Amino acid sequence: MLQFSFEVGILAIFGHLDAKYKEELNKNYSIVEKGYNSFPTNLPGTAYYKAMVARRKLNQILREIISERKEKKTVEKDLLCHLLNFKDEKGKNLTEDQIADNVIGVLFAAQDTTASALTWILKYLSDDQKLLETVKAEQRTIYESNGGKKPLTWAQTRNMSLTYRVIFSA
Ligand SMILES: *[C@@H]1O[C@H](CO)[C@@H](O)[C@H](O)[C@H]1NC(C)=O
Ligand SMILES: *[C@@H]1O[C@H](CO)[C@@H](O)[C@H](O)[C@H]1NC(C)=O
Ligand SMILES: *[C@@H]1O[C@H](CO)[C@@H](O)[C@H](O)[C@H]1NC(C)=O
Repeated sequence: MLQFSFEVGILAIFGHLDAKYKEELNKNYSIVEKGYNSFPTNLPGTAYYKAMVARRKLNQILREIISERKEKKTVEKDLLCHLLNFKDEKGKNLTEDQIADNVIGVLFAAQDTTASALTWILKYLSDDQKLLETVKAEQRTIYESNGGKKPLTWAQTRNMSLTYRVIFSA
């Protein structure tokens, strides 16, 4: 579930992201996560120290992604693009560090909460086979109506009444 919500988070933030960057982000990110609640000692070898190093690596990776994105000059509908184009009242843009902080914050916030909610939903569903089958049938109908190829539309995600009831009661 953690991996799955990481993928979804990456997709929402970056749209399509090169596998190389995804891997580097994922690895450095899990080091940060491990050291996140550890005792703050700045001695090499401690979880805290490793987390601080990995946190700086995350910024480096993000800076690379940002500079590539700027070169390409493509307009995407993802969070990174919104942050890159953001201007405050005075017309000032965000610095790259501010953008990196925002992205890492969102990734952190989205991953743990989403993963634990998903885990409970799956547990709840596997305890109730009849409900599980009805949810699967609802999802299958939508999947098949897209010929198994077309991506989900926004309207379709709003039209999963049974799935929604399960998510909200979990
Ligand atoms: C962390 O990111 C750097 C790039 O800044 C990369 O070279 C390194 O392999 C990553 N660390 C791990 C453990 O993957
Ligand atoms: C913000 O604007 C300055 C000046 O136009 C530019 O040099 C800088 O690269 C911009 N920052 C980002 C993150 O786009
Ligand atoms: C919503 O779902 C119902 C029942 O599955 C279906 O008949 C209807 O066409 C769907 N509407 C949209 C907008 O997908």
